[in-house]
Parts: sequence; structure tokens; C-alpha cells
Amino acid sequence: NTYVAIMAGGVGSRFWPASREHKPKQFLDITGDGRSLLRITFERFLKVTSAEKIFIVTNGKYLDQVKQHLPELADNQILCEPSRNNTAPCVAYTAFKLHALNEEANFVIAPSDALITNETLFSENINRALEFTASQNAIVTLGISPDRPHTGYGYIEFEGEGVDHGVYPVRRFTEKPDEEKARGFLATGNYLWNAGIFIWSTKTILAAYKKFAPEIYELLHRGMSVYNTEKEQSFINEFYPQTPSISVDYAIMENATNVFTIPAQFGWSDLGAWGALHDESDKDAFGNVISAERTITEDVHNTLIRARPEKLVVVGGVDDLMIIDEKDVLLVYPRNREQEIKKLRGLAEQEF
Ligand code: GDD
Ligand code: MG
Repeated sequence: NTYVAIMAGGVGSRFWPASREHKPKQFLDITGDGRSLLRITFERFLKVTSAEKIFIVTNGKYLDQVKQHLPELADNQILCEPSRNNTAPCVAYTAFKLHALNEEANFVIAPSDALITNETLFSENINRALEFTASQNAIVTLGISPDRPHTGYGYIEFEGEGVDHGVYPVRRFTEKPDEEKARGFLATGNYLWNAGIFIWSTKTILAAYKKFAPEIYELLHRGMSVYNTEKEQSFINEFYPQTPSISVDYAIMENATNVFTIPAQFGWSDLGAWGALHDESDKDAFGNVISAERTITEDVHNTLIRARPEKLVVVGGVDDLMIIDEKDVLLVYPRNREQEIKKLRGLAEQEF
């Protein structure tokens, strides 16, 4: 009864100019190991279940790329959204489809852009969560020990009592608090970051949608008899775009009362922007991360350089930059202003 779903429909705009609308970061070899983030995520889940039980939820326009990166998947394992409505409708569609396949389905749904080290501990944590949700009406999310008041994550306040096999009850979930709030959370100590990896049975999560996101529930429930048939796509094309655009964190996690967390034992980094890649990569003696075949650097520190193999890149006398050379765009920008890249991308696309 165990299934896996991978969300791969985002744009990855803070990884511009490598990540583009027509080829977002999940299809790129961001880590330099020869595999796309989607491929890495898929292979990691092969330790949890077999390939025929892994589903990908993406935007219809990426169907061909998903097939290219994961040729072992059957068409029915790729869910194609006709519009970008954020993760709440995406999770609901997945839950309805898996429920139509198997009423006892128990599944994990995960993003495709996290960097995870120690995959053995990862699958151990996932399996523990799956065992828990198989027998209880529980929503489980994996929690990460926070090290700074990051405002781009969800915060999980857990309770120290009632712990069952390392699964902690959650008192409250707060999505993307402002910095002051985040600082307050860190000061109290019993908070974790939400890794965005959720585990639940289809029964449990559909009941939560019915209660907390009835609009999404009602719309997608109408398709119960057509999921996994040839009528599924035309149903989805008609009704999915009518669902409200909201993330699962705001729609469900902030409201549900049956939430639990497992503090993750594996290493986790959200590959949200270029800086995270620099943080997580092996550096040279000067703190530089260079993925380019031909480079000359002199007096350069803590800089990320990414260039095409045919380009000779010469950099001197600068610190703390990111230099990203794509075929048609060259970006040179301070590393600590990575969050602003979303805005730059918008400007660039407007102008050219
Ligand atoms: N299929 C599909 N459709 N996938 C989507 C869509 C969509 O409309 N929108 C986003 N995704 C995918 C993204 O590609 C990513 O893999 C995942 O869903 C999460 O979306 P993000 O947009 O990256 O969310 P976030 O980073 O702002 O916040 C979430 O992740 C944090 C951890 O990285 C939240 O769950 C936070 O609470 C969490 O801390
Ligand atoms: Mg993210």
C-alpha cells in the first residue's frame, strides 16, 4: 500500500539563469553529479518503494522532460497539471488519484529540489513515518533542526511529551513567519523547520482537505470515477484550473490538529537558491566552488563560478560573487543577494 509522489512542477526562479520556464531546476544537473535533481530524488525513493509505485506531479508542459529523465515510468505515473495552482491542489489531485487506485494507499509526497545526505537514514525516517500513518489518522512531516531565522520555511512547534517511536506530536505549524517571529521561535528551542516532505494515508489527507480546503476537495472529488482512466486528463484540464492557488502549508498544515513530526536524522539542504549550492559544495582552498572546465582565478574568494565547457573564464580580484554563464545570459551578482534573483529574472524577461 506504499506509494511515493514527487512534486516537480515549480519554476525554480532563484536559480535563474540556469533554471528557465521551459527547463526549470528539477531537470538540471545542479549538483554536477551528472543527474538532474528529479533523477536524484527518484533514485533516492527507490530505497523506499519500487519504481512502479512512484508518481510524479508536474505541469503538463514538462511531460516530455519527465519521461526523458525517468524513462522507466508508465504514462499513468505522471500527473499533468494544466495550470500552476501551487501545492495544495497538487497534493489533493495526487491523493484522489492514489485513493482511486487503492483505498488503503499510504504515501509520501516530497519536493524534487532538496539535497539530502545519508540516504540510509533518510529511508529509515520515511519508513518509520509510513508505519505510523498506516495505522493512525496522522499527518507526519519531517523536521529539520534550524540554525538561523530563515523566513522561507515552515516552522513546526513540537511537544516533548507523547513521543511514540521517535514521532512527536505537533502543537502548531507556522508557514513562513517574519524574521522577528522566526527569531522568537528559535529562542524557545522546540521548533523545527518543515522539510516539505509529508507522509499520510489518502484517507487521512482527503479528510483534512474536506474539512480545511473544501473548495479544492469538492472540485477534485467529482473526478473519483475517472481517475486512472482515459477520461482523467480531460477532467483535470477542466476542473483543476478552478481550484484556488494556495500552498498545502497554508491550506492544511496550519489548520490540521493531527500533525506529528519526526526530527530528521539525515542531512538536509533546501536547494532554493545559488547560495545553498555554494554552501553545500566542496570548495577549493579559497572557498570557491567552480564548475567549469577552463578557468583561471587569481585573488578570488568565496565565489561560485558556473560556466560552459567551451568557455575560458578568467576572474580576478573579487570576492563573494556568483558568476553564472549560460548560453544567452551572463549573471554576475553578490552571493548574499541571491533572494533578489527572482526580481532580476522578471526584469530581464520583461526587457528581452
Ligand atoms: N506539481 C507542482 N505543481 N509542483 C509544485 C507546484 C505546482 O503548482 N508549486 C510548487 N511545486 C513544487 C516545487 O517544485 C517544489 O518541489 C515543491 O513543490 C515545494 O514548492 P516551493 O515553491 O519550493 O515551496 P517553498 O520552498 O516556498 O516552501 C515549502 O518548502 C519548504 C522547504 O523547502 C514549504 O513546505 C515550507 O513549509 C518548507 O519549509
Ligand atoms: Mg522550495
